[in-house]
Amino acid sequence: MIKVLGFCASPRMGNSLYLLNKAMDEIKIHAGNLGEEVSVEICSVRGKKLSGCVMCQGCMKDGICIIKDDFKEMQDMWLNADVIIYSVPVYHMGMPAQMKAFIDRLGNSMFGRYKEIFPNMTTAPKPLKVVGCIAQGVHAFSGQEHTITQVINHAMICGCVPVAGDLWESYIGAGGWTSNDENRNALEEQYEDGTEDSRIVVTSSQSLARRALDIAILLKNGGINSRKVIDDPVYIAFRDNLQ
Ligand SMILES: Cc1cc2nc3c(=O)[nH]c(=O)nc-3n(C[C@H](O)[C@H](O)[C@H](O)COP(=O)(O)O)c2cc1C
Repeated sequence: MIKVLGFCASPRMGNSLYLLNKAMDEIKIHAGNLGEEVSVEICSVRGKKLSGCVMCQGCMKDGICIIKDDFKEMQDMWLNADVIIYSVPVYHMGMPAQMKAFIDRLGNSMFGRYKEIFPNMTTAPKPLKVVGCIAQGVHAFSGQEHTITQVINHAMICGCVPVAGDLWESYIGAGGWTSNDENRNALEEQYEDGTEDSRIVVTSSQSLARRALDIAILLKNGGINSRKVIDDPVYIAFRDNLQ
């Protein structure tokens, strides 16, 4: 069973959620074609309280953040997943503050969570989750690639495996724009009208989803067949999810 988490970084039920649902539907179809079992969950920042990290270093002790808000529930969902597809609206040429708060706290909590294995913070675990990113904004050339690169950096820091979809629609993830329309239904309407730019972002979200699932299956089977490799403590979080 491959556990897929769709992470919606928009506070609206809008274009990010629309593309994320397209990607999640595609994962289910692809899994069916491959004869693989998948579970799909959506986690959204919508309505969530997510404060920024205050660098109290509390999480270094046990991986638990001292700030009492909605982080823990989302952290548990993230830790449980094999595949994470982020769907991110571009804000100020980058990711929204809610998502940045989440990944800052998530990344730092990984050290304390496995403290017994990395007592002096010599390194952090590599959970080898497969990470893909969809990013869209209202304008063209207005931060989509920066946002995807930020998410790739997050994946690398967190010991995960970033993936892209298929060329030529997807170079490093799925990027799109709503052709200057700020409406939350803009991409859906444009896709139904058959516009080329909306086709590109939907097609790339779908190929990203398929490749993310493929890589997760390959990693999982590789892990099962390469016990000596995953006996290295650095892979503990990956190993924990293999069961
Ligand atoms: C605070 C803020 C900053 C934004 N900055 C950008 C930007 O830098 N580039 C861009 O293309 N769109 C920007 N947008 C527009 C959103 O990315 C765009 O409307 C997107 O479709 C919203 O996604 P959603 O429907 O999933 O909420 C910004 C929106 C907000 C609220």
